[in-house]
Amino acid sequence: MIDLLIYLADRSPAFRRFVWKHWYQYLAGYDVRDWHFMNYGFLDSSPDTFVPQLEESDEPNRYCIQLYDRVARAVDLQGKRIVEVGSGRGGGSSYVHRYHRPAATTGIDFSARAVRFCRGAHRHAGLDFIRGDAERLPLDDASCDAVLNVESSHCYGSMPRFVAQAFRVLRPGGHLLFADFRIPSVAAELPATFERAGFRIVERQSITEQVLAALRADSERKLRLLERHVPPRRLATLRRFAAIEGSDVFRHFENGTFVYERFSLEKPAS
Ligand SMILES: C[S@@+](CC[C@H](N)C(=O)[O-])C[C@H]1O[C@@H](n2cnc3c(N)ncnc32)[C@H](O)[C@@H]1O
Repeated sequence: MIDLLIYLADRSPAFRRFVWKHWYQYLAGYDVRDWHFMNYGFLDSSPDTFVPQLEESDEPNRYCIQLYDRVARAVDLQGKRIVEVGSGRGGGSSYVHRYHRPAATTGIDFSARAVRFCRGAHRHAGLDFIRGDAERLPLDDASCDAVLNVESSHCYGSMPRFVAQAFRVLRPGGHLLFADFRIPSVAAELPATFERAGFRIVERQSITEQVLAALRADSERKLRLLERHVPPRRLATLRRFAAIEGSDVFRHFENGTFVYERFSLEKPAS
């Protein structure tokens, strides 16, 4: 059944939007107060890698946070006006707001339940959450300095439509900071999609290895969380969604069926 849904979602943009929209609304209904992230994480063990110092309360989410940190650190966000598109349960917007010190951060997600959850769970001056669609952002032209987009774009009906929206809402000189996974043939189209919208590619990095390392390191913790909160009949689906070590989604990263990439993109100043 799940395989059939994935097959249909791959072939029909409208169906893909529909499936993901309902899936994330469903997930947002899980009443788990400390569940703040839904990404696969990032772990780079090479000696010269920057490792963020975290408050104790953020430590359990270190790998998911490190993905955000790697994406956000591409530019200096201090004092800037930033927007996260696909903010999910809000942990990423909250982390970037608290540690990278932008003046204001808005998380946007099309799940009304997720937005409601975030408004209750992440209360910080200058941080807010609104409901909105990546393909029709509820923001004025040239109204922000950076758009953050982490592991959300694979759900969209049209990637070119999202990229055009990000370009529209950014000020000249602003940045789209992006990370997500795709099958390799679709990942290969990403640079042209960004450039056609007008972006300059500042950085492009394959991070599949670092994502896999995080999945390996975090599988036990995630599995324990799932076993505690998910009804047994849903456990297999959620193990797969969370790419727990040994699941077929985990193997897709191992064998190259999925590749994970990070981009830093600039809207040229003139
Ligand atoms: C895998 S979760 C990642 C959430 C968060 N970025 C994180 O890393 O924890 C993907 C998120 O994208 C959101 N999303 C999917 N399609 C969207 C759209 N068209 N507009 C806005 N948000 C969308 C989903 O509701 C979900 O919260």
